[in-house]
Amino acid sequence: MDIELIRSLVEAWGPSGRESRVRTVIEGYLSGLVDEVRVDRLGNLIALKRATLRPPAGAAPLRVMLSAHMDEIGLVVSHVDDKGFIRFTNVGYLPPQSLVGNRVVFENGVVGAIQVEKGVRAWEGALKMNNLFIDVGASDAASAPVKVGDMGALAGSLVCQGDRLIAKSMDDRIGCAVILQALRQLKRTPHDVYAVFSVQEEVGLRGARTSAYAINPDIGIAIDVTLTGDFPEAAPMSVALGKGAAIKVQDSSVIADPRLRALMVQRAKEARIPYQLEVLTAGGTDTAAIQMTREGVPAGCISIPTRYVHSISEMVDINDVQACADLLTAILSKPIDLG
Ligand code: CO
Ligand code: ZN
Repeated sequence: MDIELIRSLVEAWGPSGRESRVRTVIEGYLSGLVDEVRVDRLGNLIALKRATLRPPAGAAPLRVMLSAHMDEIGLVVSHVDDKGFIRFTNVGYLPPQSLVGNRVVFENGVVGAIQVEKGVRAWEGALKMNNLFIDVGASDAASAPVKVGDMGALAGSLVCQGDRLIAKSMDDRIGCAVILQALRQLKRTPHDVYAVFSVQEEVGLRGARTSAYAINPDIGIAIDVTLTGDFPEAAPMSVALGKGAAIKVQDSSVIADPRLRALMVQRAKEARIPYQLEVLTAGGTDTAAIQMTREGVPAGCISIPTRYVHSISEMVDINDVQACADLLTAILSKPIDLG
């Protein structure tokens, strides 16, 4: 895996609806890898790599849509008080307790400290977003460098320790990295591969919905993070860091197409790629939006096991990331026959 590629993706600023800086990073990496690149009306980046292997006589190549979302969870300023303290609400699911003491960076580069009102006990489940405020060092509303409507994202740089990587927005920049790595590795494919880097996933799978409508794919594969059950008092779950690519069975938004899931398992076994099966009891992914497009699309998901999703310290294992890229490459390299 290319650590500098991962670094430039996870350190880019891009909460939902403000993905343009991430898009610019990805466009740079796409050059030379694909045949066409376009940006649709919502801001999705859609890259097409045309089939290089001839399908059986008379058959057209399958349109295979990949999707990884560019947006990260963020927040938006809802009020600036007389003393210049900022109140905000979340953009995407953001647990309030994960914010206290962290930093936020706004689009214009202003950094603020997120703090909690005195007397509110942060760790007893009672903490609400409106108990929190942001201090940007301003002394009154007029001089505050941030205004109502401005969006922010958590501030933090990539940390690499052995095989483990920590960053603010593994969800889902690491999925974007997996697609780019698979495109680099993909020598030949019998499919027209549409790699979508989607917008606004964290607020309701919005970009995947419109891009899937436009592409009208035969097969959909999302790439996103999933939770793990391998840290103290974690909810029981059979996904762990370092045990390979996770092949989604279901989450609360989707039941992966069982034929496509079986094909993913078969390709993993053939190529000796470590894998684990994922049953996630919460959360949703672009998989669901693709599956429900038009008359329905067989869709599945390759997940990167990630600890502490939607915190400033999302952690992945580099070997799992590589396994996900290898599995995606193996799937795209061969014909897909769902019978
Ligand atoms: Co997410
Ligand atoms: Zn995600």
